[in-house]
Amino acid sequence: MTINELFMITVQWTHAIAATTWLGGSIFYIFVFKPQQKKFLASGNPLLTALAEQFRSIIGTCIVILIASGTLLLFDRITDPSTTPTYIAVLATKIGLATWMFTIARRRWKSARNSDAQDRNMVKGNVITKLYGMSTGINLTLILGILIFFLSDILNALFIQGLSEK
Ligand code: HEM
Repeated sequence: MTINELFMITVQWTHAIAATTWLGGSIFYIFVFKPQQKKFLASGNPLLTALAEQFRSIIGTCIVILIASGTLLLFDRITDPSTTPTYIAVLATKIGLATWMFTIARRRWKSARNSDAQDRNMVKGNVITKLYGMSTGINLTLILGILIFFLSDILNALFIQGLSEK
């Protein structure tokens, strides 16, 4: 194994850990944290707000790692002669969905910084607020993340297939 191969394995490993942390964190947030947050916000307890901030900071780190490692993986794959147009098409779809995920995270950050009350508004909000919340919400992040994992497995299979047909 060459140093370059070892480096790319490390990049892929880092990418997978950051992706798993984000997706796992989102599952925890939606199914464990959020139901409690609604109750605690009503009682004015600041603990869960502090935890939400901590969660945002972890997701921020994951995003930086995903973009850096994803870019390295991208160049490694597209410069390989065995890469097919199908691979490029799936990769482009994946990057599109990832960009959507990053945009949602950025919007949630901004609104959290502005008022720290997005979730409170969501509880009380009207239909439009709720629809907006659904299109920019953490639940959509989870759905996109699950789709991206699926596309990444397809990419892996396509890449191995391309190598074996070389
Ligand atoms: C800038 C955005 C991103 C780019 C350019 C990118 C690019 C890539 C590339 C080129 C691969 C290698 C696929 C192959 O095996 O041929 C990969 C793997 C992967 N990506 Fe991404 N990615 C990005 C964001 C994300 C996000 C947001 C997630 C999930 C939340 C994610 C999850 C994964 C997973 C789970 C793998 C498989 C890793 C493995 O096989 O060990 N990626 N990515």
